[in-house]
Amino acid sequence: MDKIYKYNLVHPPYVTALFRSQAEKASVCLSPLLKVLFSLSFHINFNILLSLSSSGTQEKARKLPFFPFFCVCVIAEMGFSRKEYEFLSEIGLSSGNLGCFVNGTWKGSGPVVSTLNPANNQKIAEVSEASIQDYEEGMQACSEAAKIWMQVPAPKRGDIVRQIGDALRSKLQQLGRLVSLEMGKILPEGIGEVQEIIDMCDFAVGLSRQLNGSVIPSERPNHMMLEMWNPLGIVGVITAFNFPCAVLGWNACIALVCGNCVVWKGAPTTPLVTIAMTKLVAEVLEKNNLPGAIFTSFCGGAEIGEAIAKDRRINLVSFTGSSKVGVKVQQTVNERFGKCLLELSGNNAIIVMDDADIKLAVRSVLFAAVGTAGQRCTTCRRLLLQESIYRTVVDQLLDVYKQVKIGDPLEKGTLLGPLHTSSSRKNFEKGIEIIKSQGGNILTGGGIIESEGNFVQPTIVEISPDADVVKEELFAPVLYVMKFKTLKEAIEINNSVPQGLSSSIFTSKPEFIFKWIGPQGSDTGIVNVNIPTNGAEIGGAFGGEKATGGGREAGSDSWKQYMRRSTCTINYGSELPLAQGINFG
Ligand code: UN1
Repeated sequence: MDKIYKYNLVHPPYVTALFRSQAEKASVCLSPLLKVLFSLSFHINFNILLSLSSSGTQEKARKLPFFPFFCVCVIAEMGFSRKEYEFLSEIGLSSGNLGCFVNGTWKGSGPVVSTLNPANNQKIAEVSEASIQDYEEGMQACSEAAKIWMQVPAPKRGDIVRQIGDALRSKLQQLGRLVSLEMGKILPEGIGEVQEIIDMCDFAVGLSRQLNGSVIPSERPNHMMLEMWNPLGIVGVITAFNFPCAVLGWNACIALVCGNCVVWKGAPTTPLVTIAMTKLVAEVLEKNNLPGAIFTSFCGGAEIGEAIAKDRRINLVSFTGSSKVGVKVQQTVNERFGKCLLELSGNNAIIVMDDADIKLAVRSVLFAAVGTAGQRCTTCRRLLLQESIYRTVVDQLLDVYKQVKIGDPLEKGTLLGPLHTSSSRKNFEKGIEIIKSQGGNILTGGGIIESEGNFVQPTIVEISPDADVVKEELFAPVLYVMKFKTLKEAIEINNSVPQGLSSSIFTSKPEFIFKWIGPQGSDTGIVNVNIPTNGAEIGGAFGGEKATGGGREAGSDSWKQYMRRSTCTINYGSELPLAQGINFG
């Protein structure tokens, strides 16, 4: 215990959290000279602090000489290693951060991890992840908070989500920049992602007044049937690195207005997004005198994910990630008869018919295959071209691929940023080897880009639709091109993979469009015409079939999954007629 205490004491995130508020109060703008003086004061005070006994340290610390200045010094000491990271302090981040928000307070007694900039693999900041004790403490408080939150009237819950939306709006630029910095997607996409969660807030506010049940005619006299929607209790949300905040929004905004508390585990490699988002939500809850535990969040890895999947207190687990992990999560949740919402791998195709607007198709394929460096679940991985236009489209694509600006995702004009981690880059290299061994002909790209970051070349491969590698999701900007003769054949190829998330056709013929969206058309959850496979709006239900997991999140009537349906039959008479005309004594 003593050891842990001391460890925490000297640990930057702990120190930062301890003194941050004081430092903010002092709000001194340090000139370089003052910085040196304060730094000196910092070292003296810090050593005194360390020599104090472990009990009551916080109280004793407050009595240190020039305490507020000392705090400023701590912040100065904790400053970011690069000037371009300083904007992070505007969204509550510092170079050392506590990674879990439990029972309305910040802690993190698990391992300390560094979060890296994918463009150069250098450290942005450190985060203390959740331990299993932190998890348990958080869940106990969350269970208590659930009893309060479900009794708040739904439109009032909507007002809280409206305030969260306003808070996000006020920090849109900084949050977008953070998403871009930590995940590696280009800045317009980073800002777009934050816009997606803002849109979700707006959607959820309206929804909070429309969680309508229904009245059903009863076959029995003096009886009435009702359908009521009640909160589930607690919704667990496990999100992936590629959309570190929008996917939280799809789930949390809806879950909250439906009267559920939220327990969120963000991706282990995007902890700063998790913390910054949680801070905004926490502030809104605090301003409204609501328990912080309504929104509980953890930075952490598989251990916390498993705990969520197993936890009987969590009524619904929404998981976004690979099909491989998703199926395990589903099994674990099913074993305890919990509900599960899965958003798993995609392997999305674009079909271009010979009557299509080729210019529109080529622009769409570029965004769908190269956008987010091929790391969207909606990324186009297969391009199916009708024989007669095959050469034309491939040539135009090769031409635009040459013009793709690769580089720092925060720099204006960049279209292709790095892959998220160095292991994603290794995976890309491995994937290219497999592609070659299965007869793939690399038309452009195929290599990594020698640099500090995780950059790879946007790649186009000619390959047979039957190659095994085509049936898998390689999370990188690799596009397989293939030929077909008829629409029927194209639809067969489209539907021939295990995954079923998104697909799109380019055509101007109504008969093709209606065939495509009909019973013998595409078998994916998202079925588009003349637009890319990615970049869905939040108003529709988002999700896919087969190995994509079958879940539907965000808009439309997805909210019903976050509530339990009560079918109520009320007898307001004095007789007991039984249904189906049964006479029972
Ligand atoms: C994901 O890749 O996990 O449709 C989500 C899209 C985005 C969401 C992608 N709105 O591409």
